[in-house]
Amino acid sequence: MTAPAAPLETAPPPRRWDPVVKLTHWTIVGAILANGLITEEGSTPHVWVGYALAATLALRLIWGVIGPAEARFAAFPPSPARALAHLREIAQGRRSQHASHNPLGALMVYAIWSTLAVIVVTGVLMANAPAEPKDLVAAPPAAVHSEARESDEIGEEAEAQEGAEGHGEEGPLAEVHETAVNLLYVLIVLHIAGVVFETRRSGRRIVLAMLPGRR
Ligand code: HEM
Ligand code: HEM
Repeated sequence: MTAPAAPLETAPPPRRWDPVVKLTHWTIVGAILANGLITEEGSTPHVWVGYALAATLALRLIWGVIGPAEARFAAFPPSPARALAHLREIAQGRRSQHASHNPLGALMVYAIWSTLAVIVVTGVLMANAPAEPKDLVAAPPAAVHSEARESDEIGEEAEAQEGAEGHGEEGPLAEVHETAVNLLYVLIVLHIAGVVFETRRSGRRIVLAMLPGRR
């Protein structure tokens, strides 16, 4: 019996993600699920999960400077030109190997991280904002009951003042926090669609490379 012939085509090299990339990925996913679905908005658990998310993001960003080659920012620069070239490659049915995120994936990764940074900064600012001085925005004095028009004006003033406070439920920080969270959800859907698309296109089960125990 002769030994089986070597395959004619060599398989592409498996993608390698180190344990820090894997751990930070799934911790961030867990924190988003927890704060998006479980914890009460603005509650103590919400804020603690938020701090854990912030620390994990910070660890991943430090890892982007000191980690192994494929985890470093230098391995996946944010480049619209490269992303366009990658799109052309997809359209032409060509495939090139990337040791790290492909150029489209790289743009997505930076978009997700930037959005998370906005969520963290606004969340931390709200969590540390002084309690709203409620008596400043209290109902107008009793005397205005007789003067309907004046009462309206004072009511409007109180509303304007509440808006200017900034840290309350309707404040701009909460608005930005919520808008960034909604943008994050859109990015996550696109990210997962991208992972599915890339898996089908490349024939490589790239999700396996993100799971524990695989290298
Ligand atoms: C990705 C994870 C997160 C999700 C999905 C999320 C989601 C939300 C949502 C939907 C709200 C309601 C916003 C509104 O009132 O209009 C909220 C409020 C809040 N979040 Fe987050 N959040 C996240 C991360 C964080 C982080 C990192 C912090 C801080 C460490 C934080 C602190 C707060 C605080 C203090 C509020 C209360 C705002 C208020 O007064 O209404 N969140 N969060
Ligand atoms: C909350 C949801 C998610 C967020 C915010 C998220 C975010 C990210 C980020 C930031 C990266 C870059 C990793 C790094 O370099 O550190 C990444 C990569 C990756 N994610 Fe997710 N992810 C989410 C859910 C998922 C899910 C559900 C899957 C599996 C279906 C998945 C599969 C992957 C894979 C395979 C990569 C590596 C892509 C590549 O090979 O270039 N992610 N994700």
